Amino acid sequence: MAKLNIAVIGAGYWGPNLIRNVAQIPSAQLHTICDTDQRRLAQIAQQYAPLHQTSEPSEVFSRPDIDGVIIATPAHTHFEITQQALEAGKHVLVEKPLALTSNDARELIALAESQHCILMVGHVFEYNPSVHKLRDLVKSGELGQIYYIYSTRVNLGKIRDDLNAFWNLAAHDVSIINMLLDEMPRRVAAHGFSYLQPALEDVVFAVLEYESGVAAHIHTSWLDPNKVRQMTVVGEKKMVVYDDVSDNPITIYDKGAAWVEDASSFGIHRLQTFTGDIYIPRLPTVEPLRMEVEHFLDCIRTGETPLSDGYDGLRVVQVLEAVSESLRKKGSPVEL
Ligand SMILES: NC(=O)c1ccc[n+]([C@@H]2O[C@H](COP(=O)([O-])OP(=O)(O)OC[C@H]3O[C@@H](n4cnc5c(N)ncnc54)[C@H](O)[C@@H]3O)[C@@H](O)[C@H]2O)c1
Repeated sequence: MAKLNIAVIGAGYWGPNLIRNVAQIPSAQLHTICDTDQRRLAQIAQQYAPLHQTSEPSEVFSRPDIDGVIIATPAHTHFEITQQALEAGKHVLVEKPLALTSNDARELIALAESQHCILMVGHVFEYNPSVHKLRDLVKSGELGQIYYIYSTRVNLGKIRDDLNAFWNLAAHDVSIINMLLDEMPRRVAAHGFSYLQPALEDVVFAVLEYESGVAAHIHTSWLDPNKVRQMTVVGEKKMVVYDDVSDNPITIYDKGAAWVEDASSFGIHRLQTFTGDIYIPRLPTVEPLRMEVEHFLDCIRTGETPLSDGYDGLRVVQVLEAVSESLRKKGSPVEL
């Protein structure tokens, strides 16, 4: 099998993780690393020995031997770089968020379709075995009807200047929750607070209401003493805590509350809580980012639609946009 030539644009904080994976996957050739910061480029290129290195993205697009481009530049550059890559006929894996507006996201989807190119978004948690386990628990009915979900994604840094903490961090939570429920929220409401930079929220609390009745709360912050990556799913029959920074990320609690008939008074029902076993499933130890990059390569080879395709990226951007609108309206609900 001939190797696919892959270029990675953006070698800052996250790019090197993608570069390392491309370099490690036998069916890929790390063809080019591109970064406008020449010092950073030289440092990373020395470490991973690509065939080529450049500080000019246009060089990547003009090379006919490059099959796919992975974009890990700041979010505000995603639209333009992705557009140029697609116009040059390259398959694209772009980091989240796909774009800063849903109109731009739609434009990229249309362009990818007309160019017959793969457009995939780096929603890395969709390739995470813990999230797959959570999805299986929801879909199999083991948790019963899902009541509500809440997620906390906080730590100190990395503080951005092109988007707020919700856009930067909650793209993950939104993609996970949409995937678990297989639906989009119909309404969102959010409160956010800016302390460090004007009009750029450091902390955001958002509530998402789904058509199925599920409520989801997402708390994001880059101004917090602790790194927390935790999601709790409360179902009618069982509850699950997913802690992404734990060695045992999924814990299933046989706990809940139900109406039961009162033994002493016939026909009278009372609400009763129940507490049963706690179960920690063993999960495969794979790097989700490796799964993501391998999926991109498979999609290039087979023409298969990626799991996190442009439409998936668009749905996440639509939620992020609605949350921004609610923030502007001081927490008023926004319909999607
Ligand atoms: N999936 C994840 O868990 C995850 C984690 C962190 C970041 N990210 C995403 O990765 C992307 C990059 O984030 P980061 O933290 O690495 O940012 P960063 O600022 O550390 O790095 C970005 C790099 O891109 C380079 N760059 C900027 N504009 C460029 C251009 N036009 N052409 C070529 N290079 C350019 C910069 O010089 C810099 O080295 C963002 O979209 C972010 O959302 C994803």
